[in-house]
Amino acid sequence: MLKAVYPGSFDPVTNGHIDIMERCAVFVEKLVVAVLDNPSKASLFSVEERVAMLKEATRNMPNVEVRSFYGLLVDFCRQVDAGLVIRGLRAVTDFEYEFKMALANRKLAEDIETVFISSSSDNMFISSSSIKEIAMFGGSVEDMVPECVKNCLDRKFKNREEK
Ligand code: PNS
Repeated sequence: MLKAVYPGSFDPVTNGHIDIMERCAVFVEKLVVAVLDNPSKASLFSVEERVAMLKEATRNMPNVEVRSFYGLLVDFCRQVDAGLVIRGLRAVTDFEYEFKMALANRKLAEDIETVFISSSSDNMFISSSSIKEIAMFGGSVEDMVPECVKNCLDRKFKNREEK
């Protein structure tokens, strides 16, 4: 079975991520979306919130499973028996970081391949950090994130204002 892992912070998941998942789910039999649980990295959403948003956003994708992981990505890939890592590439600026990560993973586990999928032109400018910034300052993130993420962002920043 061709099984792939699509890892990331997903803080929060964007339409750019969803596009990569949809296109990938066509050629793999199983896609495990893996949310990094890294307590030392500051995130807006907890790992539980990120997983919940992803589950909601992918509920119509039958061969997609959402999990969280802690530690090395290659260890997680072995745990779920996946030989492929999927990463999206938006622009040349992503390349150096992605290439280094792919090389490090290859050094750790030669049998696990990284495959890059180019982002659609519509989503090239979308990133989780820009989404958070737009939402924090009251801009509209419609068409950039799934509906459930938009609602969670609204709640998150409304609660902050009230504190
Ligand atoms: O969405 P992101 O933040 O660009 O995702 C980065 C992620 C989670 C894929 C990466 O940080 C990761 O795989 N972390 C796990 C630790 C690891 O395996 N490190 C070795 C490779 S650099």
